[in-house]
Amino acid sequence: MYIVLLGPPGAGKGTQAQRIAAATQLLHISTGDMFRENVKNETALGKLANQYMAKGELVPDEVTIKMLLERISRTDAKAGAMFDGFPRNVVQAEALDEALRGNGAKVDFALLISVRDAELMARLGGRWICRTCGKLYHEKNDPPKKHGICDACGGELYQREDDRPEVVASRLEKQKPPAALIEHYRKAGTLKEINGEQPLDAVTSALLEAIR
Ligand code: AP5
Repeated sequence: MYIVLLGPPGAGKGTQAQRIAAATQLLHISTGDMFRENVKNETALGKLANQYMAKGELVPDEVTIKMLLERISRTDAKAGAMFDGFPRNVVQAEALDEALRGNGAKVDFALLISVRDAELMARLGGRWICRTCGKLYHEKNDPPKKHGICDACGGELYQREDDRPEVVASRLEKQKPPAALIEHYRKAGTLKEINGEQPLDAVTSALLEAIR
């Protein structure tokens, strides 16, 4: 099964992908995480991507698509995957369709998590992430038991560079799923819209119900 999670920055794609992956054993592929790993390791790809990420802009399609296609060509992605943060536009969606078609597969579900802007600002401003295992927290909505420490692995929590208010404003302006992308999946008959403003567990249940 292949699933794409769509939604604006801060909608809960990463949080829900971690939960669905734990519930279904589906492989979680996050292009944002892949770029951040490259930035951390100071690779050529990371240096290039960071020029865009720091400004709240999308990394160019040719770079992102190449990275994603390489990832899904690996053996662990042959049985299925859940894409978080990919695709962001129709060009990326068509590249994914073509690659999956080559393996006799397709996107089975496109799950659109909808959240309004005011809530997105509050979510991104309060987000904390574990440096070691990547688990996501929110200082009010989903706090760790001990401030600054990950419940799951004891790692240190940090805030993302692109969660600063000025970068968040740019991300919300430039990175919401475009209408043409939503239409792409509506036409394919795979689109399901989920109200992302419900409590975390309710969103997880709605997503699991949608793919059942
Ligand atoms: P990426 O990492 O994909 O960022 P994003 O799309 O902006 O999404 P976020 O990770 O910010 O939010 P999310 O929806 O995962 O929310 P989360 O679960 O963390 O991409 C980063 C950058 O990489 C991009 O800006 C771009 O430059 C580049 N990039 C990545 N993919 C690309 C692509 N395909 N093409 C080109 N460039 C690409 O939740 C947010 C917070 O809210 C958390 O604190 C969480 O605890 C809380 N929360 C979540 N759900 C709830 C809830 N139901 N109730 C209360 N709180 C909640």
